[in-house]
Order: sequence, then C-alpha cells, then structure tokens
Amino acid sequence: MRILVTGGTGYIGSHTVLTLLEAGHDVVVVDNLSNSSEEALRRVGELAGREAAFVRADITDEAALDAAFAEHAPEAVIHFAGLKAVGESVTIPLDYYFNNVAGTIALLRTMERHAVRTIVFSSSATVYGEHNPTPYVEKMEIGAMNPYGRTKEQIEDILTDLGASDPAWRIALLRYFNPVGAHPSGRIGEDPQGIPNNLVPFIAQVAVGRREKLMVFGGDYDTPDGTCLRDYIHVMDLAEGHAAALHYLQGHDGVHRWNLGSGHGTSVLQMHAAFEKAVGSPIPYEIAPRRAGDLPAFWADPSAALADLGWSTTRTVEAMCEDHWRWQKNNPMGYALSLEAGEEPQARPSMSPHPAPYRIDVTAGDPPSLEQALNRAVEAAIAQALMEGTRGVLVTRRSPCTYTVELSRIVPFGTTLERDESVQGR
Ligand code: NAD
Ligand code: UFG
Repeated sequence: MRILVTGGTGYIGSHTVLTLLEAGHDVVVVDNLSNSSEEALRRVGELAGREAAFVRADITDEAALDAAFAEHAPEAVIHFAGLKAVGESVTIPLDYYFNNVAGTIALLRTMERHAVRTIVFSSSATVYGEHNPTPYVEKMEIGAMNPYGRTKEQIEDILTDLGASDPAWRIALLRYFNPVGAHPSGRIGEDPQGIPNNLVPFIAQVAVGRREKLMVFGGDYDTPDGTCLRDYIHVMDLAEGHAAALHYLQGHDGVHRWNLGSGHGTSVLQMHAAFEKAVGSPIPYEIAPRRAGDLPAFWADPSAALADLGWSTTRTVEAMCEDHWRWQKNNPMGYALSLEAGEEPQARPSMSPHPAPYRIDVTAGDPPSLEQALNRAVEAAIAQALMEGTRGVLVTRRSPCTYTVELSRIVPFGTTLERDESVQGR
C-alpha cells in the first residue's frame, strides 16, 4: 500500500514509518521539520534497507499538499503532524489551533480532492480530561483540560462529522497513552528540543549527564508510593498499533476509536527505578512540588484494540527503559551528533536546505559535570553548524549553572571559542 505519513520524521512517526517499510508498504513522509530532523528518516532507511520518500512541507499549505498527493498518489494517510507541548499550548493557543486544527482541515480537504478517504489520526489520552474514572474506555464522554488537548478533541469531532457525512471515509482515532522507548537498534528515538517536558526523556538526560537530577513532581498523591501513575507504552508497540489500525480500515468503513495503552499504571518512582536498572548506576532525584494540571493516576482499558485489531502491547517497562537508554547513550545529543564506538564529531552532508532551529539547554550542579555537559553540547552544535554550512555557535550563560548552546546566523563560526571563556567565567 502507498501511505502518506504526516509528521513522519518525528518521534512516533519515524518508528511507525520503519514498521510500515518493514511490512512492505511504500511511504511518503510530509513534515515541516519544525520539531524533528531529516536524519531520523535517513536512519529509518538504513534500518529498513529501503527509503521512504520525503516532502518538506507544512500541512497548513494546501498547494504543497496537493503537489505531494499528485506526485505520490497515496491510498491512505497516517496523520502525526502537530504541536504537542501542553504548557506551550496555554501560552500560544492560536498557534496550536492553527497548526493542529487548521492543518488537519487542510489535509482532509486535500484528501477529498484526491479521493483518499482512509486516515489514522494521533489522538491522546488527554482527551479523557479529569472527570472520568480510570481505566479509560473509548465510550466515555471526553473533555480535555488545556488547548493542546482541545485541539485533539476538536479534530476527533471534525473527523467524526466527516465520517458521518460520507460512508466512503474510513477513520481511526488512536488515543495514545504515554509513549516511551526507542527502536532496539538505538539508531532512532525521541529527540526533544530544549528541556524535556516528559518523564522518561528527562530521566535519560540526567543519566547521560545533560541534567543534574530528576525532579519528581509530587510525592504525596493518594497512590501506593505517593507519585503519579501513568500507562507507559513502548513506541514500537505503538507503531505496530498503527499498522493494525490501517489493516482494519481495509475492511471497515466509518469512524473507530481505540485506546493504545498497556492497561497498567506505573509510578514515577517505579519508572525511575527501572531506568536506573537499565543504566546500571544511580540517577539522582528529588521530590518536588506537584506540577499544575497533573492527574494522580490514569491508564487505558485496551480491550477494544485487542478485540477489534488483535493488537496488545508486548514490551515491558524494562524493555522501554533499556531501549530508551541505548538510544540516549549512543546519541547523547540526539540526532545532532552520534557518539558511537568512539566516533569523533564530524560534519555530515546537509540533507536539508532549511534545517530546524537548534538549541540545547545545559544545566548541572557541580563544575566538572557542567563543563563536561557544556563541552558535549558545544561539540554537538559545532557538528550541526558544519553540517549546515554557514552558521555559528553561540553559548549564553543563563545562570551560574545553566547555559544555552544554539546555532546563530549572526555570530561568526569562530565565536565557538567563547565557550572556554564562558566555562571559566562561571
Ligand atoms: P514529534 O514532535 O516528535 O512529531 C511531530 C512531527 O510533526 C514533527 O516531526 C514536526 O516537525 C511535525 N509537524 C508539526 N507541525 C507540522 C506542520 N504544520 N506541518 C508539517 N509537519 C509538522 O511528536 P510525537 O511525539 O512523535 O507525536 C506525534 C503525534 O502524536 C502528535 O500529533 C502528538 O500530539 C501525538 N501524541 C503524542 C504523545 C506523546 O507523548 N509523544 C502522546 C499522545 C499523542
Ligand atoms: N514527571 C516528573 N518529573 C518530570 C517530568 C514528569 O515527576 O520531570 C511526572 C509527571 O508529574 C507525571 C509523570 O511524570 O506524573 C508523567 O509525566 P509526562 O509529562 O511524561 O506525561 P503526562 O502523563 O503528563 O502527559 C503525556 C503527554 C501528553 C499526553 C499524555 C497522555 O505529555 O501530551 O501523556 O497521553 F496527553
């Protein structure tokens, strides 16, 4: 089958593209690279032994989508593209509604014009809001609590209305729980920009020396160990869930909703302990105040996905941590720089004329680990700057133990020497 994947260079998208290529499908990825790197797709091609086509385009741009549909003639769409940071969505809601909701409408209008009426959509457990008891079941009344969640809810409504308007539409709404982990090769994984919002990427960056310690948000919840429970799902299980949903839609029209989760809650401290086991050494943490908006505990009732799709999770929390750690250890700075088998930082041929913005925040408590972390961040930035040809690297001291390392169009390349002054001037 020919499948167009929006957001296919992102975290979940890249793992799903790999699963689709391995299953024999032809894939074209449409992504604007606003939160990802084309390097992910290059590695997916390496792992699969064949390439996905890539179109750099924004899903709000119908002319660009028309051209991609005309050239690649997809038969179905998997739609990952979207902005996803809950906190940011509260600050810039219009960007979220425009990118996620207007972007989806543009995509659906394009699909209609090209008579492509099969779509799998990335929804989220966040649509269940705060009023539902756990475990969450698909038939529950939804009601998200923040602009990001409401974009998911509104897109679900739009797709439900569309499905009701014309029986030719085949629509899967997949409500993901908490995706973590990476492909077991350690070649692709989650590469958050800036300070990670989510638990496991944060733990992984502490483990690799980029952050000083994990702050556990709340130790006084009414849960067995006082920390929040979530339903973590291995990203490869999630990727396989998409292939299963697409397969189901071959034989069924209408609109379908499935939770993709394991059905089990794991606490923050349990996740921290599992990650320590994968790493083989202690990972510092501290109990901090609760984070606004966090629910104490929720997990999926995944029985509908099992009954309809024959899909359920097969990978354990231990496997999630081992795989996530392999990716983080081999790629301490994500796709910017891979440090495998003593590999030195080196330039790679630029794959994209307009690379994504690049920025790393470095925080550490004591001088040796700060210096180490800063040096790694600067090396990664230099490698990225070389890859892109013309930019410089700027190091800014934000506080005694926080620095930002970013690419700069203004500062000449040689300004990277400043890093030593910055470290000494600490
Ligand atoms: P991601 O940021 O890694 O991937 C999203 C991709 O979409 C990125 O490659 C980004 O460049 C691209 N993109 C964003 N806006 C675009 C636009 N206007 N045009 C073209 N490309 C655009 O995120 P992810 O974690 O892989 O999430 C994928 C989807 O799953 C998102 O829709 C997200 O909301 C949803 N989801 C994620 C989680 C999670 O915890 N990761 C949980 C539930 C749902
Ligand atoms: N946590 C910490 N410290 C951190 C980060 C997180 O203690 O540095 C805690 C949180 O307080 C929460 C748990 O770890 O108790 C999980 O937090 P995440 O941010 O990893 O995940 P959430 O469940 O809050 O939210 C995620 C996505 C949402 C999505 C939701 C359900 O960020 O977009 O899962 O799929 F909607």
